[in-house]
Amino acid sequence: MGNREIVVLMGTCGKSAGADRVYDKFASALKAKSIAGVELKQSGCAGLCYSEVNVRTFRDGKEYLYAQITEDDVEKFIDSEIIENKTYMEKILFEADPVDDTALFPKQKRIVLRNCGKITPTSVDDYIAKDGYKAILKALTMPPEKVVQEIKDSGLRGRGGAGFPTGLKWELTRKNPAPEGRYFICNADEGDPGAFMDRSVLEGDPHSVIEGMLIGAYAIGANHGYIYVRAEYPLAVKHCLKAIEDAKARGFLGENIMGSGFSFDLKTKEGAGAFVCGEETALIASIEGKRGMPSLRPPYPAEKGVFGKSTVINNVETLANIPWIILNGGSKYSETGYEKSRGTKVFALAGKIKKGGLVEVPMGTTLREVIYDIGGGMAEPEYKFKAVQLGGPSGGCIPERLLDLPVDYESLVKTGAIMGSGGMVIMDERSCMVDLARYFLNFTQNESCGKCTFCRLGTKRMLEILERICKGQGTMDDLTLLQEIAKKCSTSSLCALGGSAPNPVLTTLKYFYDEYVEHIVNKRCPAKYCKKLLTYTINDKCIGCTACARKCPVKAISGEKKTRHFIDQQKCIKCGACVATCKFNAIDTE
Ligand SMILES: Cc1cc2nc3c(=O)[nH]c(=O)nc-3n(C[C@H](O)[C@H](O)[C@H](O)COP(=O)(O)O)c2cc1C
Ligand code: SF4
Ligand code: SF4
Ligand code: FES
Repeated sequence: MGNREIVVLMGTCGKSAGADRVYDKFASALKAKSIAGVELKQSGCAGLCYSEVNVRTFRDGKEYLYAQITEDDVEKFIDSEIIENKTYMEKILFEADPVDDTALFPKQKRIVLRNCGKITPTSVDDYIAKDGYKAILKALTMPPEKVVQEIKDSGLRGRGGAGFPTGLKWELTRKNPAPEGRYFICNADEGDPGAFMDRSVLEGDPHSVIEGMLIGAYAIGANHGYIYVRAEYPLAVKHCLKAIEDAKARGFLGENIMGSGFSFDLKTKEGAGAFVCGEETALIASIEGKRGMPSLRPPYPAEKGVFGKSTVINNVETLANIPWIILNGGSKYSETGYEKSRGTKVFALAGKIKKGGLVEVPMGTTLREVIYDIGGGMAEPEYKFKAVQLGGPSGGCIPERLLDLPVDYESLVKTGAIMGSGGMVIMDERSCMVDLARYFLNFTQNESCGKCTFCRLGTKRMLEILERICKGQGTMDDLTLLQEIAKKCSTSSLCALGGSAPNPVLTTLKYFYDEYVEHIVNKRCPAKYCKKLLTYTINDKCIGCTACARKCPVKAISGEKKTRHFIDQQKCIKCGACVATCKFNAIDTE
């Protein structure tokens, strides 16, 4: 049988789909069948959310990736793959070259996700076997200025949202006198609803982020660092702690790294899950044990950061690129990309899309390619694509006619959206754009730290207006007021939470103005989503089962058993309970 490997992909996503149970079942089945020579391994997620639980194995120089494996598949899988050396046809997803994964991930280029789903994240040896820690060894032989230059040459820009050039940030920090030393921080707060790439990278390949930090710390002359990671990511925290311990044991962290004279001490700091704590000055306050609230810049962290010392803060994805750039060269990295956006970007595809998950594409790939060619298009093709929300609560909504837009920082800003951290929520014709704006404003309103008047109160007033419109109580004057408050909120907020909070409102107004007008003038929700704007009637599919009548909280439904029921429109409070209850599709909404 020879040595074989069975790898279960066990990121948080995999685990929530049952990966722990599948792993345990493999362990017990291999034992029960007395099969030796098979190594059962764990890995992080490969980004194939739609097909979890994923299992990989290798046979005759080829890789076999399986999808939707359950405990019930395990025995059959072992019989086929391990005993008969045959593909387990029922659940095969891809048969691919284990080194070149372009067939497995067409149109993608995997730099950040290069090891995710391939290595055991808790094994430093696995990371080292994939050229791990080679880049820091190379960097330590280079003058720090040369390391900075390499990153500048790559054109890499911060993936945390603002897109600031990473090499320039490092250079500016280096130029600041720092007699008391510097700090290097990894921002793993990841608070955008819809984004999960940073979690996945820390869970699946934590050493790549640590190595990126080491290189950055060496380049700017920092001897202390923190990974600021939200406590709601327990697996990411666990893997970071293990990776730090193992890197220390191998001499990659701590005093006099590899005899170079350079020392770097790294700790984790768990955040309590406030969106605003991802903002760099709030993050610094949080690390210092203060309340996580943003403060005015300047001074920038480069001058005065953690504990008053010069600090660089970089995002997880930004850092995971760094070892690759040092090993392959900045100019090689910059060969990929589009105009001023070089390299790749990881996107988290969610919402009404067939193949939700993580994808990494060259900058400049169009939205259409990401959504249709990689994401497989709409989850339910009978419903038409309506819009894609990019960049979470700070981002905006992009309509169908802009789908051929290349994804790069500048093109997205022109639409009113932003790249943000790369969350992409796909919506079909059943999504109401007014409600979507209301949803995001509700989020930013809740997450505002309260320091700035327009962020604290302006978002509240905007939210009230949107709630009114969704209930059919809005007026056309409300639209003018919305735009006015939005403008003030954008320009009078201290940090980008308040500054960008109006983006979902402004983009939906820009691209879906008619939908607002329909809600206000005709008291109609074209997506048939806003419950208060619907009229509920019972059609002839009704068999008189009485389920809806029993559920209606105001007794608005009447009718004899086994005969068609009716809704009294005067009594109906439009709660939608009858629609959710009826099993016969007998309730129409208009
Ligand atoms: C409200 C708010 C939340 C933010 N959240 C994050 C976050 O979760 N992760 C992140 O890397 N950057 C976040 N940022 C951006 C950071 O302030 C900062 O620009 C970034 O960490 C710098 O790293 P980069 O240059 O590698 O992108 C946030 C900014 C704001 C205004
Ligand atoms: S803009 Fe909002 S979140 Fe940012 S500092 Fe002001 S009140 Fe706080
Ligand atoms: S929408 Fe609610 S109130 Fe109206 S008929 Fe249905 S269950 Fe009753
Ligand atoms: S499969 Fe892990 S993030 Fe989706």
